[in-house]
Amino acid sequence: MNVMVGVTGGIAAYKACELVRLLRRDEHAVRVVMTANAQRFVTSLTFEALSNNPVATDMWAEGHQYYVEHIEIAKWADVAAIAPATANFIGKVANGIADDLLTTIVMALPAPTPVVIAPAMNTQMWLNPIVQRNIEYLRSLGKYQFVLPRVAKLACGDTGAGALAAPEEIVRQVLARAGDASSNGACPA
Ligand SMILES: Cc1cc2nc3c(=O)[nH]c(=O)nc-3n(C[C@H](O)[C@H](O)[C@H](O)COP(=O)(O)O)c2cc1C
Repeated sequence: MNVMVGVTGGIAAYKACELVRLLRRDEHAVRVVMTANAQRFVTSLTFEALSNNPVATDMWAEGHQYYVEHIEIAKWADVAAIAPATANFIGKVANGIADDLLTTIVMALPAPTPVVIAPAMNTQMWLNPIVQRNIEYLRSLGKYQFVLPRVAKLACGDTGAGALAAPEEIVRQVLARAGDASSNGACPA
């Protein structure tokens, strides 16, 4: 399975390392795409080493590419996993905004390619009706599935919903979703 892992700028970005490790352990091909803010939390080098692939970070990188990277990655992926997904990322995708490499790839994914989104954020952000509305809207499209966050003591010190789901659970849902899509030829609603 070709799995694109998108990492956005939340404190749980380090947990995406375990997600990539588990996928590679099971011999899936992984390409990681990081937002600029994700790179404030974890270096691209860590994901390069874990995925055994270059990490894509910049839509405007010069020099080494003779293809349009966002389209190439979008075509390559059998499934996309976004973990952790920030409130910002979810809001951008729900509103058709493609202003960096990751959101542009998500916009360019072929219709049958499933997207599994694992949000992680502070409880008040998670409960914000704008975030919930964006999630409900994306769910209604059928293409986007959410791995809901856990209730836990969060990095900010609050206890509540918003902790990233366990990497094992994210892997399980990513592979299940990709299996559904390949057997149906399309995303189930
Ligand atoms: C220390 C720190 C931790 C943050 N953690 C989160 C988080 O867990 N979830 C979230 O949605 N935003 C979090 N943010 C805010 C995002 O980094 C911010 O919304 C940013 O614009 C996200 O960019 P991106 O979605 O392009 O990666 C955090 C910010 C800081 C400074």
